[in-house]
Amino acid sequence: MPEADIVKPSKDKNYYEHIPMISPGFFLRGAGSLDWGMKNRLARIFNPTTGRTVMLAIDHGYFQGPTTGLERIDLNIVPLMPLADALMLTRGILRTTVPPALTKPIVLRCSGGPSILKELSNEELAVDIEDAVRLNVSAVTLQVFIGGEYETRSVHNMTRLVDMGLRLGIPTMAVTAVGKAMTRDAQYFRLACRICAELGAHIVKTYYVPEGFETVTASCPVPIVMAGGKKLPELEALTMAWNAIQQGAAGVDMGRNIFQSDAPEAMMQAIAGVVHKNLKPKEALDLYETVKAREAQKSKARGQA
Ligand code: 5RP
Repeated sequence: MPEADIVKPSKDKNYYEHIPMISPGFFLRGAGSLDWGMKNRLARIFNPTTGRTVMLAIDHGYFQGPTTGLERIDLNIVPLMPLADALMLTRGILRTTVPPALTKPIVLRCSGGPSILKELSNEELAVDIEDAVRLNVSAVTLQVFIGGEYETRSVHNMTRLVDMGLRLGIPTMAVTAVGKAMTRDAQYFRLACRICAELGAHIVKTYYVPEGFETVTASCPVPIVMAGGKKLPELEALTMAWNAIQQGAAGVDMGRNIFQSDAPEAMMQAIAGVVHKNLKPKEALDLYETVKAREAQKSKARGQA
């Protein structure tokens, strides 16, 4: 039986009546009115100190099979996972390959259907929200094809996922997908990102554009994370990430520019420097070269042992 509270005269108890109750605010754009569970999940994805995230995207297999660099996730990607703030992947890879003791927040790919052999915008929701709960994910995610052949279907997929997530306190990240024939400019991304946020997405992942990216972030009322896109030389990828962050992105969600790099571990650390420490591209490249050289030495030493 619990003991009774120590009975003290009320003059000896301290209620700090003169100090207003502290009501914690929330650091993330557009999330102030969300419930506690949503905010807590978002605070696992975005570092509350910097307000930013380095998400590692490894979900490519859901439509393109064993993508270069992701042939053996167990061997080549699992060792990188501790360096990421969050992981974007499918439930197949999560269950088969990711150690359950890893406590990194998961952003679960929930759309699918067409392969690279078909029209990509013809996606459906491909995960039940109950399974997302079973997997203890921090957010769910899907593609939204604004201007694509199946635009309405993909927007409807998103609004259903947002509704299911809201019931359970799980935020949704919308990915603005660009078809081969679609223009990639600020006007297009302003349109696509704003539609996703207006219809309920809590995070939007989108591509960087050299002209006017700051108008894309400014006109989107939820955090934007920058997608990496095709593999670039390291300095170019670091410069793109730096520009996106300086122009208002709340982080990156990169895949190929990390796992297709000659030194993925070094690239993760360099990107994290840009995102969380505002390292300039050249400083981040120096960090990349240093870590790469150190890793090469370690692996040579292992080979000789
Ligand atoms: C598919 C996705 C991928 O997860 C992601 O965008 C690919 O990452 P990257 O372009 O950096 O390789 O959302 O469209």
